[in-house]
Amino acid sequence: MSKVNERLANLAQIGRVEQGMDRALATPAEREARLLFASWARERRYSLTQDRVGNLFARRNGARDGARPLLVGSHLDTVKNGGAYDGAYGVVAALCALEALDEHKIETEHPIEAVAWVGEEGGRFPLACVGSAFFTGACDAARALALTDSDGVTLEQALASADGGLLEGIPARDESRVAAYLEIHIEQGPILEREGVSLGIVTAINGQRRYRVIVNGTPGHAGTVPMARRGDALCAAAEMILATERAALSIGECVVTFGTLVVEPNAPNVIPGRVTFSVDIRSPEDARVEAVENALREAAGDVNGRRRVAAAIERLQGHAPVPMDPKLRNATARAIGALGERAIDVPSGAGHDAMLLARIAPAAMIFVPSIGGRSHVPEEETSPRDLELGLTALTAAIVEVDKFVI
Ligand code: GLV
Ligand code: MN
Ligand code: MN
Repeated sequence: MSKVNERLANLAQIGRVEQGMDRALATPAEREARLLFASWARERRYSLTQDRVGNLFARRNGARDGARPLLVGSHLDTVKNGGAYDGAYGVVAALCALEALDEHKIETEHPIEAVAWVGEEGGRFPLACVGSAFFTGACDAARALALTDSDGVTLEQALASADGGLLEGIPARDESRVAAYLEIHIEQGPILEREGVSLGIVTAINGQRRYRVIVNGTPGHAGTVPMARRGDALCAAAEMILATERAALSIGECVVTFGTLVVEPNAPNVIPGRVTFSVDIRSPEDARVEAVENALREAAGDVNGRRRVAAAIERLQGHAPVPMDPKLRNATARAIGALGERAIDVPSGAGHDAMLLARIAPAAMIFVPSIGGRSHVPEEETSPRDLELGLTALTAAIVEVDKFVI
């Protein structure tokens, strides 16, 4: 087994649950994954640094004094019942790429750093890409550390705890300059497989907005309150959800997902008094995301008027579509072409740390195919051959990008 495949298999043992993987930010499993990354980096004597939220950087020095680092990375956390490749592949490939540079005795101008960003998925704490958002200044330390999980634990507390917190003995990072950013990731969709191509160069990452909706109704006895007098929070939420889904279908080229729903008190003989659900809207065009948001707001106004409930919508985060840097994309295409391999341009429906890094530096991404286009599920898989080819492409792209970025 090649090193990239072997390391992914090792990581897949950490946080394995009955159905897939569960490595939420600042949990024992996620910390253990960071520890494993650190131990691999130490074996090769790359210098490690760690920032306040736990992002980890393994550095291979460059030849030019004072040159800003070229960052290459992805994330180690997973969604609940997720797969073994989303994020983990990009982190492992970044480290393996540094080692490939060593093995081929390639000297780069810039320091090259393999990065493991924390909390990309936004599952435990309600901010996706919290690690890269903190690093790039999109979210300041006070806001990031005050994020609270569903048990009322703040990110600051979780990062101070022994079982899920920061790693000991790793120097604090003081470098925030970046020459450029590269990320390799599984596609998580069907395009590459359908086209029979093993490599994709990402054109842009779709725009996305996430919301929390709280519908307050009136709890009551399931047998005694007449239908006409009810303020049923769940029936109102159901209407909002289906109205928003219908709007997304008619607007087109957008997707909407209601991935969490909490019913209170959640008893078979009590009318639901309160429902909290999530909404995730994405599209290559911001105007379409906006139109779906408007439909959600209209649906809230409608149920508030008709159903004796109060529905409130809180926008948690959002960003417009993020184009990848044309010069970096070209350099990546040149590097892949020089290997005699074929790559096609692909959009990214999923979000990535690259969309945050693009705020402060030129950023580009490479995709490898997902078998059956499946991701965020235990069945998520990419062939060992494609994972190895992706690593070769990433290493070549690093060498090419190193030549022209400042
Ligand atoms: C991350 O995987 C996302 O796209 O939500
Ligand atoms: Mn990911
Ligand atoms: Mn993901």
